[in-house]
Amino acid sequence: MLKVKIASYAGFCFGVERAMNMAWKEVEENSDVYSLGPLIHNKQAVKKYEDKGLKVINSLDEAENKSRVIIRSHGVGLKIYEEAKEKGIKIIDATCPFVKKIQDIVYKYYNEEYKIIIVGDYSHPEVIGINGWCNNEAVIVKNIEDLDNIPRNYKKYCVVAQTTMNLNVYEKITEKLEKMLECVEFYNTICSATRERQKAAKELSREVDVMIVIGGKHSSNTQKLVQICSENVITYHIETIDDLDLNKLKKYSFVGITAGASTPKWIIEEVVSSIEKL
Ligand code: F3S
Repeated sequence: MLKVKIASYAGFCFGVERAMNMAWKEVEENSDVYSLGPLIHNKQAVKKYEDKGLKVINSLDEAENKSRVIIRSHGVGLKIYEEAKEKGIKIIDATCPFVKKIQDIVYKYYNEEYKIIIVGDYSHPEVIGINGWCNNEAVIVKNIEDLDNIPRNYKKYCVVAQTTMNLNVYEKITEKLEKMLECVEFYNTICSATRERQKAAKELSREVDVMIVIGGKHSSNTQKLVQICSENVITYHIETIDDLDLNKLKKYSFVGITAGASTPKWIIEEVVSSIEKL
């Protein structure tokens, strides 16, 4: 019989799991529930919630007055809360507490006249949300080259990081900033969930004969897991059990499984039980 092992950290992180549970409770108990942007980048999971009545919107204008709007784990800027209050919309705040902490730091330092620097990707919803706590005035740097854009006419600076930022890149950037700026406060707000998942995938891929990585084809954290695993062993990237040719696994005796941060448990369980039946 094939032996199957799941990486010690795989699938939803704490913040996504919390947000998905909050959203599920909402759609079970209420009608007229919206989510501002898709809850996660997993089309099977999004469909499950939509079938239950959740409507995905891109702006609060699309929500009925007095309805309920879920803020996903990435969080949003201050203006969204103000707008919701004006419209009588009830916010169900599923912002990950680690992201909330960054927003609080940014808000505090911005109000103390620090220039905010966010190390991250300017187009990522989490970064857009964080920037919304300093009136969208942060300087956003993704790499060393972007440091040329830092204005030097501020007395004090405060640096935070997108939770999924690569630690090596963050360290290189902050090392340089420390030399460039006189008064600067650093907050390494990188969340360990991504690192833990990558480390666990690496370790497991060294133990097994073949790895299955479950996650969206366009999910960047899933692609990263595929890359890490394929450095050690033959690796298949699938979105659901339907993508897996089970016959290919028959020649192996030990299968490892990991999953991207937006992959729900039920999709992982489906894959595991199908393989175990072989
Ligand atoms: Fe939160 Fe970290 Fe996940 S910031 S949403 S627990 S990756």
